[in-house]
Amino acid sequence: MPDFVGAIDQGTTSSRFMIFDHGGNEIARHQLEHEQILPRPGWVEHNPTEIWERTRAVVASALTKANLAASDLAALGVTNQRETTVVWNRRTGRPYCNAIVWQDTRTDRIAATLEREGKGEVIRRKAGLPPATYFSGGKLQWILENVEGVRADAERGDALFGTTDTWLLWNLTGGIGGGEHVTDPTNASRTMLMDLETLDWDDELLSFFDIPRRMLPEIRPSSNPGFFGLTRADGPLGGVVPITGDLGDQQAATVGQVCFRPGEAKNTYGTGNFLLLNTGHELVRSKHGLLTTLCYQFGDEKPVYALEGSIAVTGSAVQWLRDQLGIISGASQSEALAREVADNGGIYFVPAFSGLFAPYWRSDARGAIVGLTRATTNAHLARATLESICYQSRDVVEAMENDSGVKLDVLRVDGGVTANELCMQLQADVLGVPVSKPVVAETTALGAAYAAGLAVGFWASTDELEQNWNEDKRWQPSWSDAQRAQGYAGWQKAVGRTLDWVD
Ligand code: G3P
Repeated sequence: MPDFVGAIDQGTTSSRFMIFDHGGNEIARHQLEHEQILPRPGWVEHNPTEIWERTRAVVASALTKANLAASDLAALGVTNQRETTVVWNRRTGRPYCNAIVWQDTRTDRIAATLEREGKGEVIRRKAGLPPATYFSGGKLQWILENVEGVRADAERGDALFGTTDTWLLWNLTGGIGGGEHVTDPTNASRTMLMDLETLDWDDELLSFFDIPRRMLPEIRPSSNPGFFGLTRADGPLGGVVPITGDLGDQQAATVGQVCFRPGEAKNTYGTGNFLLLNTGHELVRSKHGLLTTLCYQFGDEKPVYALEGSIAVTGSAVQWLRDQLGIISGASQSEALAREVADNGGIYFVPAFSGLFAPYWRSDARGAIVGLTRATTNAHLARATLESICYQSRDVVEAMENDSGVKLDVLRVDGGVTANELCMQLQADVLGVPVSKPVVAETTALGAAYAAGLAVGFWASTDELEQNWNEDKRWQPSWSDAQRAQGYAGWQKAVGRTLDWVD
């Protein structure tokens, strides 16, 4: 058996390839950003061809850096930004249009119509999701209705749909005219098209969006001894490697954080924040604005479900300070700037750029900065931005505690923003519980590697993976209860100001 497992992590802002050893240690990585295309307010697109090219490049570079070849990899896992919708032609391999990204709100009318026609309840019951712009089904309907030629090609079986895992798997295994057209149930559970109990596409749900079934990929278990496919020898790995893991990135991070027991949860801080609570084999229906979703399906074992609190804008609010306002030159500078002040100076920033996701699900919300005075500075805004990440997470934790009846005693965190020490301290303060970060903070790629490696026996069991988890750092709450209550009350008032903004 080769000594390493590889994982492709195709994220919202970048694609990376990482190589891990048996202890779950990182051996090499390479990462490249891709363009965020913003053609109109509320629209967010990616170029699928650019994503594939960047993926090829990062795979080749990481292997070269580590002086490894395809033959050193026991298996390959793929993980991806979820919901982002790609449609391409089976014969040419070319996309019909840019991918519509999960943050894109152009389908708000589709979501509103579903609700008005009473279909929302069916979608909640079968798919575990509220009708929202976030999920793939409406995005695919939009492409079928608005991009020339797609509908006819889809009826003929020539137009294929996929999230970016499916797009990469197609290209890695075959490319033009014939790769594998596959996905896993965690990705499929984000479309509003899959029944959570049967783990299959559902005809009634497909009819709501008028989507031909022939467009959809085959759903295979997330950790799959039967393979998603074999990499092409002339592809970026330069050899044949079995692809045996595929998970949406947030579910992959849950696996990477070894949250294998019901009641275990993690919060990932990326462009958005995503808190997932493992609920075991039980399908828990949220009464407080969370999603019911697939956590993972390993081989022929029973599927494991999760409750999820998805927050659209957290790390990307820091990017907004950099790219749109120009008040910092890099994400890490947000911490230094925010440390210039002792508190938020009475201001709150609610970055509802894509409406508000969990637990509100209000596509009519738009961002607001409230409480401004003549004394407000860039430093207050930087601090309020970091606090917004923490308060949004508190909203979701409250919903999760209300749904599950279980009080969180520690929050396991990972993702890029966890490098921001001030933000993590604020998170502990705002929640009133300790925040704990593992040594390997790249849990998304690690989780995809774990799923792939489990399928080929590189790791024998999830017990073995649990041995790999070690704490790196823990932040303890330092605020008084009164300070915490006052801060949260201000946040809730600010959220109220963002609603009903667009019709
Ligand atoms: O649901 C969207 C999520 O999967 C995106 O994650 O890390 O690419 O921002 P990330």
